Amino acid sequence: NDCLNINEKGHLTIGGCDTVELAKEYGTPLYVLDENTIRTTCRSYVESFKKFYNGNGMPLYASKALSCKELCRIANEEHLGLDVVSGGEIYTAQQAGFPMEKTHFHGNNKTAAEIEFALNAGVGTFVVDNLYELELLNEIAGKLVKKAKISFRIKPGVDAHTHNFIRTGQIDSKFGFALETGEAFEAVKKALEYENVNLAELHCHIGSQIFDIDPFVTAAEIMMDFIGKIKDELGVTISNLNLGGGFGIMYVNSDEPVPYENYMEKVSVAVKAKAAEHNVPVPYIFIEPGRSIVGEAGITLYTVGGIKEIPNIRTYVSVDGGMTDNIRYALYQSDYTVVNASHADKEATQTVTVAGKCCESGDLVQEHTQVAPVTVGDTLAVLSTGAYNYSMASNYNRIPRPAIVMVNNGKSRVIVKRESYEDIVRNDI
Ligand code: LLP
Repeated sequence: NDCLNINEKGHLTIGGCDTVELAKEYGTPLYVLDENTIRTTCRSYVESFKKFYNGNGMPLYASKALSCKELCRIANEEHLGLDVVSGGEIYTAQQAGFPMEKTHFHGNNKTAAEIEFALNAGVGTFVVDNLYELELLNEIAGKLVKKAKISFRIKPGVDAHTHNFIRTGQIDSKFGFALETGEAFEAVKKALEYENVNLAELHCHIGSQIFDIDPFVTAAEIMMDFIGKIKDELGVTISNLNLGGGFGIMYVNSDEPVPYENYMEKVSVAVKAKAAEHNVPVPYIFIEPGRSIVGEAGITLYTVGGIKEIPNIRTYVSVDGGMTDNIRYALYQSDYTVVNASHADKEATQTVTVAGKCCESGDLVQEHTQVAPVTVGDTLAVLSTGAYNYSMASNYNRIPRPAIVMVNNGKSRVIVKRESYEDIVRNDI
């Protein structure tokens, strides 16, 4: 990871800032994000659209990975659109001054209140999940005298979570319309009948933290076949195709993410071939990366408290955060790389289990992981925590959420303040 280094004190640095100093200055637990990494990744996505689609496409930042005003501002400055999935994410984008026409509103159960709020906020595209939502949206748009631009979330039947992906594995998903059952085609016909919606796009998303290119290519081909069918049977041209996110990142050394340029190239070749085969124009392409934009740009810093050795079993190293700031190990047994940031120059010879501070045995950050020998007061860094950590944080045990600090070439600034105890009781009556 380019933004990480070790300085002359043997401390881990991120974006040119000493992590032990950051821990002192801002307190721990602390999320730290490297601005250069985020912006560089955004730019490469934008560039790849120029290269492979003549600029006829746009990456949308999937803000569920980490939604806050500063990330929305950066996405906008870097010419990305935004994937939002709730009223709260829409509100965040709005408050950041994000151009709302560049937002795509997802979710399998948008409430009437959210739909109304989104229409009034000027959300660009509603990614409709089911027929009930289509009807509701048509009705609310009519009431507000607006026309909603819509997309349909389609289950292409590609399950990318198994290594050898299978084409029927995804019918049992709460998201979207199935192709095999004819449900998706019926939805398209319905949309053409409704007056207050305008069908402009089809969408699919096959999963997250994916390392293979093939399932993405297969999904794109299936979507293009469907666009061909709509053209042939209904005489309607779908001008936009949104292929979702899901590009894997590196959490531990054994992870081998695919260079996304390879992904972009292979998918663009497949899309163009299918467009020619079906005699339809190459659609304007969207992708929705979340994790790959912020994941590796972020680390979490903790201070080591009690260390408990259970003879012949394991050594628990307790830190001042845990499942409240990073629930991913408790939820998915996710792998993470842990570094003793105070002694990053020393060899990782000690095997430890990093435990959080919650009243919950399962509150672990990582089990049996190798770090440089740890003592009380050391700063521990958990790497690749930029995505789905702050955004999935909670106040369990009434623990305030940490601050987020953005670093850039040796400078640091707070972009999200640490919660206070007052914040914790703010809504209590
Ligand atoms: N688009 C749609 C419609 C999605 O559902 C998602 C992620 C994305 C884009 C972004 O995917 P990404 O590029 O970040 O993989 N909480 C889980 C991840 C859930 C992802 C949900 N959808 C985790 O911590 O791993």
